Amino acid sequence: MTDKRYSHISITPNFYQLGTPSFPAYLSLGDDGMIIEGGTGATFAIIINQLKELGIEPERIKYLFLTHTHADHIGAIPRLRRIWPHLKVVASPVGEKLLTRLDSYTFGVDMVVKEGDRLDLGSGVSWTVYDTPGHSPCHISLHNEREGTLVIGDATGLYVPGKDSFWPNYFSSLEAYCDSIRKLASLPAQRGALCHYGVIEGGVKRYFQKALSATESYHREMMVRLDRGEDPEEIALEKARWVNTLTDIQTFEVMLSLSRVLIKRSQSAVVREGLFTIP
Ligand SMILES: [Fe+2]
Repeated sequence: MTDKRYSHISITPNFYQLGTPSFPAYLSLGDDGMIIEGGTGATFAIIINQLKELGIEPERIKYLFLTHTHADHIGAIPRLRRIWPHLKVVASPVGEKLLTRLDSYTFGVDMVVKEGDRLDLGSGVSWTVYDTPGHSPCHISLHNEREGTLVIGDATGLYVPGKDSFWPNYFSSLEAYCDSIRKLASLPAQRGALCHYGVIEGGVKRYFQKALSATESYHREMMVRLDRGEDPEEIALEKARWVNTLTDIQTFEVMLSLSRVLIKRSQSAVVREGLFTIP
């Protein structure tokens, strides 16, 4: 029976939000279908039910596109591969390397894509791939120019729409993270699909500028406090407590360890002029 608490959401006539609000996946439909996001273990059954609800035959789903390979974005892959052997898992070259380390059979990548590659689903539905590292080294995004839809993924960090707040997530590099946001901001878009908490409708450029401003504030605060001689562990603890008031999608321990990572990335960053500004 379909889980009515988590019905699909129609974003456009051929783009749907699946999964849960905290951990969404997306379905793009041309002649072929593409699921975007590898889901969590727990969202697997929900996604399957939502596809049934939409009347989509599994054979029609050709691709499973991974924005990146963090644990909360790949959990449904092993079971999806088992029930749908025809599915092609798509990831960046770095993503492929990271997943192969896990288990090459259950997490295997069937198609590696790089910036500029296109995924054509037929009937005019086509996506262009963009490299958007910084959140993770393997992060990639998608742009459907015709519809003005951007799949931002986690490239802008964790944005909580209800609180209009960002937790900037430059876990692999502050500079790459900002460059990726600037790159995405240069693409024409009506909406941006996030890998937590759904879709931004309208005002996408303003959203990117807000993401950069939040990143600048977070980074500068880290640096000022470290320069004052504050204990990095105390700063990390305080940040984790603050993140805990924004969201419950990770445990406190995970938020704390990620807060420590952000302090390290801020310390090693080389901030050049204009890094936090969209031209
Ligand atoms: Fe992530």
